[in-house]
Amino acid sequence: MDKFVIQGGKRLGGTVSVSGAKNATLALMPAAILAPGTSRLGNTPALRDVTTMTSLLRTMGMQIDFRENLLTLDSTNVDRYEAPYEHVKKMRASIYVLGPLISRYGRAKVSLPGGCAWGPRPVNLHIEGLRKLGADIELEGGYIIAKADRLHGARIHFDVSSVGATGNVMMAASLARGTTLIENAAMEPEITALAEFLNAMGARIGGMGTNRLEIEGVDLLHPAAIMTIPDRIEAGTFLLAAAITGGSVTLERVNPEHLSALTAKLEDAGCTLRSSPDSLSLTAHAPLRSVDVTAAIYPGFPTDMQAQWTSLMAVASGTAVVTDSIYFDRFKHVPELVRLGADIELKENAAVIRGVTRLTGAKVMSTDLRASASLILAGLVASGTTEVLRVYHIDRGYEAIEKKLQSLGAEIRREAGEEF
Ligand code: EPZ
Repeated sequence: MDKFVIQGGKRLGGTVSVSGAKNATLALMPAAILAPGTSRLGNTPALRDVTTMTSLLRTMGMQIDFRENLLTLDSTNVDRYEAPYEHVKKMRASIYVLGPLISRYGRAKVSLPGGCAWGPRPVNLHIEGLRKLGADIELEGGYIIAKADRLHGARIHFDVSSVGATGNVMMAASLARGTTLIENAAMEPEITALAEFLNAMGARIGGMGTNRLEIEGVDLLHPAAIMTIPDRIEAGTFLLAAAITGGSVTLERVNPEHLSALTAKLEDAGCTLRSSPDSLSLTAHAPLRSVDVTAAIYPGFPTDMQAQWTSLMAVASGTAVVTDSIYFDRFKHVPELVRLGADIELKENAAVIRGVTRLTGAKVMSTDLRASASLILAGLVASGTTEVLRVYHIDRGYEAIEKKLQSLGAEIRREAGEEF
């Protein structure tokens, strides 16, 4: 298993371009099931999760080609309607095939995802929503077994705002008979991107960008092409890399509107931000001020940036409280940060972070994608050498992160790690 070896203490400077959004791509790819023929996704990032989704869709008969960040998906020969445990256990987003399979083929057999690094992640809202559309769903042997003649429109109110459940139901409702109303829908930009792609295919989805989506079902969808939106979490991670090292960095091919909660907090912490329609620049001014955040649904502070913010606050000048209202136990990075010298105390779904003047390099272990990012950020500022182990986690969601950081002046290299 590879590791990253980082020499801390280098201020980052320069310009880096942001890749396409992982969490949009993982919804757009299964959406291609809905339309017979070849759809195209431009600005697709080269990530492990994209490879995993590609191999899952290929087992179903989808023909897929990926070259220079252009993904083409031909659904003509899809003839298997199953997402086996082997795939789903690797990546929870595999469940996005459920809605399209039921809607286009009237059947699906998808493994329940099981837990992830930081605890249970249920899919009850996906199942309840699809049942309301008329799918007959049984849970058997760890699988979701679904059948449906033709789905019909329904009014669906999600008790909890769920990105995945909103995406699955929206895709299924696009080919249902009649109109579906989704209330308390997720408003993440990745869901808006999915709605735009479906509409480009001929779907009739209204209310984009709000938590109330209206989908008028159609009989047939046709293939489409879309440019995938920039990855706001990759962008946010690079802004924090500049902030934590006291540097000055410009991000290109980014949508600043998708990052407004984060950039507001970075300004509170004392950074200077400048933006244009597709770029964002940050200049840090040490020492950083400690700023509390509560991770919440969009447009709130993203839970996928919570671990990275904790690293930044570890070297800020006061005490900050980082609360996660989405995932109460998404704090596996904290014990590893403490090994680097951070002063952090966990209290239920919050981390109380007392800033310290320095972190000291050590070997630390990645446990999940965003925890890995937080450890890299800490390594960039820790004195001496930090080794971040098991970086296959980070390769899931960041395209060539070490190369991008090197281009900004970071001393980071990938090494084949010890097997253990
Ligand atoms: C998406 O996961 C993202 N993944 C996650 O990013 C992100 O952390 C999450 O949304 C929240 O923003 C992708 O888009 C592929 P949810 P998802 O359904 O859809 C509860 C990353 O780092 N819930 O919005 O699985 C759930 O337990 C990943 O890129 C139910 O209770 O998240 C959680 O508390 C990690 N029942 C809350 O809703 C359900 O049926 C939000 O989950 C579904 C969800």
